[in-house]
Amino acid sequence: MQQTIVVLKFGSSVLRSVDDLPSAVHEIYRWYRDGSRILTVVSAMGDTTERLLAQACQLAPTPDVHATAQLLATGERASAALLGIALERAGVPARVVDPREIGLMVSGSPLDSEPVSVESSRLLSMFDEHPVLVLPGFFGHTEDGRLHLLGRGGSDLSAVFAATALRAQRCRLLKDVDGIYESDPAVPGSRPRRFSTLAYEDALRVAGPLIQPKAVNHLAVNGTAAEVAALAVPHESVVHSRPTVLADRLPEIPAKRVLILGLGTVGFGVYQRLLAMPQWFTPLGALVRDRAKHEAANVPGDLLHTAEEAVLSLDPDIVVDALPACGVSSRLVVGFLRRGIDVVSANKGLIVDEAAMLADAQRGSGAVLRFSAAVGGSAPMIEALRAAAKRGPLIALSGILNGTCNFVLERCAHGAALMDALAEAQALGFAEADPSEDVSGRDAERKLRILAEVAFGQRLLSVKADPLTDDIAAAASEASRRGSSLRQVSRVRRSHGGWIGRVSFESMAREHPLAIATGEWNALLLTQSDGRSVRVVGRGAGRWPTTEAVMADLLEAHRENGAALKEKIAFRDGVVRQSCRYMTRAST
Ligand code: NAP
Ligand code: HSE
Repeated sequence: MQQTIVVLKFGSSVLRSVDDLPSAVHEIYRWYRDGSRILTVVSAMGDTTERLLAQACQLAPTPDVHATAQLLATGERASAALLGIALERAGVPARVVDPREIGLMVSGSPLDSEPVSVESSRLLSMFDEHPVLVLPGFFGHTEDGRLHLLGRGGSDLSAVFAATALRAQRCRLLKDVDGIYESDPAVPGSRPRRFSTLAYEDALRVAGPLIQPKAVNHLAVNGTAAEVAALAVPHESVVHSRPTVLADRLPEIPAKRVLILGLGTVGFGVYQRLLAMPQWFTPLGALVRDRAKHEAANVPGDLLHTAEEAVLSLDPDIVVDALPACGVSSRLVVGFLRRGIDVVSANKGLIVDEAAMLADAQRGSGAVLRFSAAVGGSAPMIEALRAAAKRGPLIALSGILNGTCNFVLERCAHGAALMDALAEAQALGFAEADPSEDVSGRDAERKLRILAEVAFGQRLLSVKADPLTDDIAAAASEASRRGSSLRQVSRVRRSHGGWIGRVSFESMAREHPLAIATGEWNALLLTQSDGRSVRVVGRGAGRWPTTEAVMADLLEAHRENGAALKEKIAFRDGVVRQSCRYMTRAST
């Protein structure tokens, strides 16, 4: 299957420090869950390049150019490595790439070279294993093996050069401004307009400090396009071969007030990310049981509520449900949906057990319930299924859907006792509040039910789930001795008049496509009627992967509301224009 390739370039204005990496991960994850392959190109963080250059100049007024090139490139290398670590924490399958591995050749002067060639086939084959690749921008190597820089702002050039070589569908240069403006919008009192598109020559004239001119020239020579955009926004300015057009003025999208139900493994991760993104989100309140525990963790007391009625009296823009399946969760989620307030839920118990009531509440009010985090953690299973179902019928679906069981079986394969391995999974935040949900197969069963409904648009007729017992743990150890691995696998198969599900333990060769999911990682394999198959992988449990999926839903809601606001304004302006025309006609 032909997959979209997106090149994302993160500049030093959006990667100011390590604290900005999770926001960059959210942006990458947005495209990953859309099914794209992503080449991420990074600059050095913040003022790293200037600091390194100052150090070089402290030692010598005109430092050796080759040594300086080596020194400055360490900034991009550090950024790439740290972003790789942040992606791994969030459970996004990523690989940091050295420019040498992909034959990124350059020529020219040591501090201001031009890219000459890159082995795009190497990048394409890396995508087979890792849908996200991270490349340090700004430098490549000459034929005689020396490291040369691509000039000031050279990571832009690395990105557009790689995008052209890969024939990428999009090349998005992420900056601290949401596009290219007539003049600097940060100047107090100025209200310049943003361009929706710019011809190359106009981009060279107005976008000098924002995009490296050599990068614009590269686009012009190749007739390709690149976008300048900010993190998490739906719009951009596109530099391309066609005419320059100014964009309509967009309304400011206010930060969304978010109510969080539950501040445990998932809810507290979401809370921390909301605090880190004040431009987009404001925590409005949180429902918990033990107020003192959360005050001790520095959550302000005025945000904490322990009574359902108290949170129902709040007026959030959106609600995050990170509660275990319980009456409180269903009453609150249904209540907010009925009031027309969107909900993002990680709670698969709620999604399965209250499906009819939730559908009814949404139908009545038009509110949207998003639940990507309920299945697969950071493996975007629901999105992959929806995309596959649009392409054509699905004939098979199988997956590793419970992170705790996968983790425990792996530990048992290496000699751990079942109860010890389970205690470790609980301590790491993988297991449910009631871990018997994981061990009995009930958790995987619920996830299979959700996936089947998304895939086939109908409920499973039945699901049989086998529990994880001491005998299974012993079999895992035996399988390992024989060179295979024992996994809890969830499958659906067609039966008379519908689909039935099965959660059981299967011995798997190490080369099996699902065997890629080790530890708490999850994987899903889909087969379509034309024989095409798709695999999605991610960390299936734990704070950061689940938070990643919740944040993706929140950011999607934010973008969609922004788009709706824009449409509403365009409609209002249209009505105003229409009535002005009418009045003009009437008065002449
Ligand atoms: P958790 O760590 O046990 O946290 C649950 C939170 O809910 C706690 O803050 C708890 O308050 C609060 N809570 C529980 N019952 C409550 C009640 N009756 N009234 C008010 N507050 C209540 O659970 P979690 O691991 O974050 O999981 C949350 C949800 O996400 C579950 O539905 C789970 O299935 C789902 N999920 C979890 C993961 C994961 O890896 N952990 C992954 C995907 C989905 P106190 O802190 O005051 O006790
Ligand atoms: N307890 C679940 C698991 C959490 O281990 O997979 C993620 O849904």
